[in-house]
Amino acid sequence: MAVFDLKINGKVHQIDVAPDTPMLWVLRDHANLVGTKYGCGIAQCGACTIHVNGVATRSCILPVSSVSDKEITTIEGLSEDGSHPLQEAWIEHDVPQCGYCQAGQIMSAASLLKDNPSPTDEDIDTAMNGNICRCGTYVRIKKAIKTAAGNM
Ligand code: FES
Ligand code: FES
Repeated sequence: MAVFDLKINGKVHQIDVAPDTPMLWVLRDHANLVGTKYGCGIAQCGACTIHVNGVATRSCILPVSSVSDKEITTIEGLSEDGSHPLQEAWIEHDVPQCGYCQAGQIMSAASLLKDNPSPTDEDIDTAMNGNICRCGTYVRIKKAIKTAAGNM
């Protein structure tokens, strides 16, 4: 075990875990941030996507020891009150069905728009390619990303 000072959503959390503990479990079990979801555990579905220094990253395979000096953002930290343009566009287009994949979808989309505020369809397809939705909400996700891009 080791103690890590982790900067998550702008606050420092002291977490005492084994250095190879995946960030997904640090967030959910130690920081009480359960918006980030477990889907596959092998970096194949995108449900666990967070930002590490602003870059969309799969937290299920990310050892805590690799991020102790980095800025972590989860869906809870994307905005204080759900007012990020993507969150508003998600509501406008009524994107979620079961909702399970949606935190990961939004975090991937947020990383895309941060780097590319006017993405083409192809840019969106490429950036969102690794985020799986069993409910098939892909059409609404794409519409919401375009709406958010237009409002940013
Ligand atoms: S749970 Fe991390 S990519 Fe599926
Ligand atoms: S909304 Fe159900 S898995 Fe995406």
